[in-house]
Amino acid sequence: MKKKLLALSISLASALTPNLLHAEANSNTGKEKAAACAGCHGEDGNSMVSTFPKLAQQHSSYLIKELKAFKTGTRVNAMMNPLAMGLSDQDIEDIAAYYSSKKISANTLPTLAVDEEDDEQADADPNKAAKSDINQLIAEGSDLYRNGDIKREVSACIACHGPFGEGNKPAAFPAIKSQHADYLIKTLNDFKSGERSNNPENMMHMIAKKMTEQEINSVSYYISMMKP
Ligand code: HEC
Ligand code: HEC
Repeated sequence: MKKKLLALSISLASALTPNLLHAEANSNTGKEKAAACAGCHGEDGNSMVSTFPKLAQQHSSYLIKELKAFKTGTRVNAMMNPLAMGLSDQDIEDIAAYYSSKKISANTLPTLAVDEEDDEQADADPNKAAKSDINQLIAEGSDLYRNGDIKREVSACIACHGPFGEGNKPAAFPAIKSQHADYLIKTLNDFKSGERSNNPENMMHMIAKKMTEQEINSVSYYISMMKP
């Protein structure tokens, strides 16, 4: 009788808390499983190549969502699709736990190519000077990030990605601070063209399609310089 009761209580407990039976995500196992990813994303998730996204410190909820999207093909990328197909759900959770536990690295201030002739014209034409100045570009990006452009219905990024670019874990809104500018520019253009469309209600497409090239560049440089 005791045994029966015990069995019953165990099965009840597991019915109520199925997550307890499911193996916990393990970042140590995740580190081993992520060995195949290091060549492109860096050993600790800080990639050296600016078109390969950094994964360090990213929310595990978002990493899991994206890896499942690559696996099922709803997010398309020739490099990532075949790799993700080889991962089980447990692999994905372990790898996500590993990268989310790492610290993202800071970027150095990029230099924009400016030739001397432009500089001379810049003295006479303040608008041109503004365009050629990286700090000015970052200031424009900061303004768009914080305030959006209400007239043109570009939503403020801060609403979902947070004041520090930290994202939102429960909602799986990605952290974007200190990401490589080149990757940010590429991925915002992919949202704009519809190439990347695996997000709820396509909200990033609705936002990016209204952004100009100048806005995509400036906000990307701003985000890339947000502190880790
Ligand atoms: C050959 C290079 C390469 C390898 C190896 C690779 N990746 Fe990627 N990964 C990329 C590229 C390029 C992208 C950006 C895709 C895009 O532009 O949409 C990416 C994107 C991602 C993203 C989405 C990041 C984001 O911010 O949305 C995740 C997550 C990811 N990779 C995880 C992994 C994992 C886990 C592995 C190992 C199993 C791995 N990658 C191996 C090149 C690679
Ligand atoms: C209503 C909420 C919302 C707003 C506002 C918003 N985003 Fe997003 N953003 C998201 C979500 C959700 C995703 C994840 C999309 C996915 O799963 O593919 C995302 C993804 C991104 C990514 C991809 C990150 C990566 O690692 O691949 C970038 C870059 C980005 N947003 C930039 C911006 C910028 C710049 C703005 C402001 C102009 C902005 N977002 C405004 C919700 C939002």
